[in-house]
Amino acid sequence: MTAAASLTAVLCLGVLTSCGTAAGQGDDDYTGPPVNGGTLRVAFDADITCADGQQAGNNTALNVSRQIADSLTDQDPETGEIVPWLAESWDVSDDSTTFTFHLRYGVTFTDGTPFTAQSVKDNLEGIVDLGAKSSLGSTYLAAHFPGVNNTTVWADPDSGSHIEFAGFEHFARTAERGLFDFLFLAEGLRLREHKGQVFDQDVVGRPETATVLSALAAVTTHIGVTGTFNSTFNEPYDLARTLATLDRVSGGRAAWNVVTSHNAFTGANFRRSGYLDGADRYRRAADFVSLARTLWESHRGSDGSFDWHSDFFDVHGTFPVPETPQISPVIFQAGDSDEGRDFAARHAEVIFSAHTEAEDRKAFRTDIDQRLAAVGRRPDSLKIYPGISDILGDTEAEAQERYREVRHAQVHGPGAIAFLEQVWGRDLSGYDPDGPLPDVGPDLDNADITRGRVRHEKDYGAVARRWRALAEEKNLSIRELVTEVSGRGGTLIGTPAQVAAKFDDLTQQRAADGFIVVPHITPGGLDEIVDRVVPELQDRGVYRTSYAGSTTLRDNLDLPAYNHSTSQEVSA
Ligand SMILES: Cc1cc2nc3c(=O)[nH]c(=O)nc-3n(C[C@H](O)[C@H](O)[C@H](O)COP(=O)(O)O)c2cc1C
Repeated sequence: MTAAASLTAVLCLGVLTSCGTAAGQGDDDYTGPPVNGGTLRVAFDADITCADGQQAGNNTALNVSRQIADSLTDQDPETGEIVPWLAESWDVSDDSTTFTFHLRYGVTFTDGTPFTAQSVKDNLEGIVDLGAKSSLGSTYLAAHFPGVNNTTVWADPDSGSHIEFAGFEHFARTAERGLFDFLFLAEGLRLREHKGQVFDQDVVGRPETATVLSALAAVTTHIGVTGTFNSTFNEPYDLARTLATLDRVSGGRAAWNVVTSHNAFTGANFRRSGYLDGADRYRRAADFVSLARTLWESHRGSDGSFDWHSDFFDVHGTFPVPETPQISPVIFQAGDSDEGRDFAARHAEVIFSAHTEAEDRKAFRTDIDQRLAAVGRRPDSLKIYPGISDILGDTEAEAQERYREVRHAQVHGPGAIAFLEQVWGRDLSGYDPDGPLPDVGPDLDNADITRGRVRHEKDYGAVARRWRALAEEKNLSIRELVTEVSGRGGTLIGTPAQVAAKFDDLTQQRAADGFIVVPHITPGGLDEIVDRVVPELQDRGVYRTSYAGSTTLRDNLDLPAYNHSTSQEVSA
């Protein structure tokens, strides 16, 4: 039997399930001593909403459906290892897309019907047939509040302060009105400098992330609050305490996007200044997360004391914050190098990915699944959320026209020159942005012309050659070239119904588990997608209509409950 699907497809063994209102509660006395054949009452912290394993949308529902249905595989609660159940063994193809299960013989349904490969096939196809009712087919959205960026259209009347709390509040309330999974705050730790001046598109005085998120937790009830915190410059004890507090005050909605930016320019802001090379910064990040998890778990059957000695940290003491609703905040990762991907496979539960094209996203998913398999983790234990932008119009033509206007506003003349200077490493202010590319080549020894930025491209000589070839081929001016190469790829452009259909299609293709919406206007840029696209997704039946059944961020994300053993320790 071959099935290209999740390893733990739930098989409903002859049990009729339906999703309606809960039965009335009886008044039996359950307080007596345990007896064989008696009734065990179990309390859950949330409404199960639906007991059908094929539709199950949260962990509480899974806890119930696991009592009435068997699976192909189980997971050892101690080690996290996937172990046989209805399948005695299985093989996984090299590209991790085909799973061949060898089924146990002699198993029957409760009515005596034999359990066969056909039963498994029917169950898997049943999930697909359920369409929108199956959690596997749902679209998930999240909202990105920018840190440093070059896409905000400041001249738009809906563009407001990135500093005043009212802007954050509007953004968070809108995202929650749209039933988004989480709000994501990016962060830049030092204002970038370009040619010795503060980079003109950076936000001067951006407030501190954890403080803003705590305040947002107080004005929202369900949406997750995700903060970007650097593991190279922070200290584990401080940050673990901050994040545990955020998880506590938000009632279990905290997440930490672990970033590793490491340049000495940014480091100079911190007590621990200086430089770590690529491999070391991810080793430090892994050690940091493992230590933080130890601190968060230190009250489990203990007094909160900890003792940790490694290449990076030498600490012992007592962790002051009692265990929090999620125990560990949800761990995010953003960074695309080999080391970054390995770190994500070992430690993260969500990746904020920069991959914008559908094929690219699928290849990235396959790569991550292989890395997960190598460390014994299941694909559904790590969600991938690429950033995505959208432009709406009442007609497709209007949306395309708006897109052109937005791109024109995003790439103004001085901005285009500054963008080119970052790669050229030269002052190009004497060049006309509406004229051809500079006749001089890049100065590769002057990469520091812009300081404090994240460099996604390592070889600027190659970038310059690529851009020059493109400009010559299409006869582009500097501004036209920058418009072409700096846009966020994969922008969804169309009517609300068309954009909803595109989200749905990307989800069905498994190009992403969810999307982090990156509006070009902050804080007002989210309103349109919430008011016009979310209802379309709901009409298609592929988007939640309430947060029912979700109490924590892990619930919003349909992630398994926190289990330390599913993450790996750093190898020394
Ligand atoms: C989509 C995406 C978003 C990121 N957001 C931030 C951020 O808000 N703040 C930050 O300091 N670094 C951010 N980074 C940088 C990464 O944490 C990392 O330092 C950088 O990508 C280099 O890591 P790599 O070599 O694994 O790619 C982001 C990276 C990506 C891909």
